[in-house]
Amino acid sequence: VLGTGTVGSELLEQVRAQRGELERDYDRVLRVVGVADRHGALFDEAGVDLERWREALAAAPATGPVDARTAPALLDRLATLPHPVLVDLTAADGMEDVYEQAFRRGIDVIASNKRPLAVPPRRLEQLRQVRRQHHRHYHYDTTVGASLPVIATLRRLGRTGDRVKAIEGSLSGTLGYLCTELGKGVPLSLATRWAIGLGYAEEDPRDDLSGLDSARKGLILAREIGLGVALEDVAVTPLVPAERLAVPPAELLASLRRQDEAMAAEVERVRREGKVLRYLTRIVPAADGRAEIRVGPVAVDPAHPAARLVGVEAFVAFTTARHADTPLVVQGAGVGGANTAGGVVAEIFRISLGAGAR
Ligand SMILES: NC(=O)c1ccc[n+]([C@@H]2O[C@H](COP(=O)([O-])OP(=O)(O)OC[C@H]3O[C@@H](n4cnc5c(N)ncnc54)[C@H](OP(=O)(O)O)[C@@H]3O)[C@@H](O)[C@H]2O)c1
Repeated sequence: VLGTGTVGSELLEQVRAQRGELERDYDRVLRVVGVADRHGALFDEAGVDLERWREALAAAPATGPVDARTAPALLDRLATLPHPVLVDLTAADGMEDVYEQAFRRGIDVIASNKRPLAVPPRRLEQLRQVRRQHHRHYHYDTTVGASLPVIATLRRLGRTGDRVKAIEGSLSGTLGYLCTELGKGVPLSLATRWAIGLGYAEEDPRDDLSGLDSARKGLILAREIGLGVALEDVAVTPLVPAERLAVPPAELLASLRRQDEAMAAEVERVRREGKVLRYLTRIVPAADGRAEIRVGPVAVDPAHPAARLVGVEAFVAFTTARHADTPLVVQGAGVGGANTAGGVVAEIFRISLGAGAR
């Protein structure tokens, strides 16, 4: 397990608490053999003690973050075990190189990290080719909508011969939360502070506010239906002007305070029009196999499904050939350690029990 933050620590807790039951119900032994953060890594083939992993990890040698250079030492040991799975719950760049090393060693990968899916098209195709050559699994359903069946629904539509005509959604639980709080009159800087405190925000909250996180999710969905798009193709309008975000992370909240007034005025302007502010992603496939992807703030009508979203709820509407008049909608809490970790546990079992298990 790479990453012991909001999602990682929740995953370890869920495995600790539910392991007995899972093993009894599914006749599988689930063993966490390694845990890593940026400081170092723990590895024990017999199983890491999930009652005291924090102390043990803090006392582990400072080998530094896991990357393509440090990963082989861990992956070589992981590969000797039956059904090895690498679980990436970091937001680190370059993990696609680590996954490739894992696939080559016969290790499956489950990740909530979006970055390896947002790499240039050629690199992603190479990674997928190595995965296929080595007959490995790469599950990343929690990258969009946490435990909501967003990617699973999209795959099912494709498998059953339906054709996606448009995807629209509020894909960032963090921005959904911010929009709800802004609508209640909470200043932007304070709502952002709460989102960070509640563990909703990205490791670097500027990724949420700039729209980059939503752009990555839009890209993941577009690529999932086979569209040839790159991150640069996504037209992004940030929630907060770029100059307010061009500060070191420690100065972000102070910088946002200078935006509070303008943001409140914008929310009020939208309210006077009888609408509400939401941050939406829109994907429209083009005839040439590419797509138009737009991400940004939108003043939506009260009748729009996004207008009813509360807190960290995410929603995705798929308009397809078969769902042409009324789109197929997936909606619910799309962020949070418990949801995301639950989704990861489901994916571990999906691999262990075979592809048909969901
Ligand atoms: N939180 C959510 O609701 C949610 C929902 C869906 C998807 N996700 C995704 O899940 C991932 C984790 O989210 P989070 O909220 O748990 O983030 P987080 O609280 O910031 O935790 C990130 C963890 O990753 C570790 N880490 C970073 N780079 C590493 C590296 N190279 N090697 C080993 N460990 C490394 C960090 O180590 P240190 O502790 O040493 O800093 C930290 O423990 C992100 O990619 C996020 O986008 C999150």
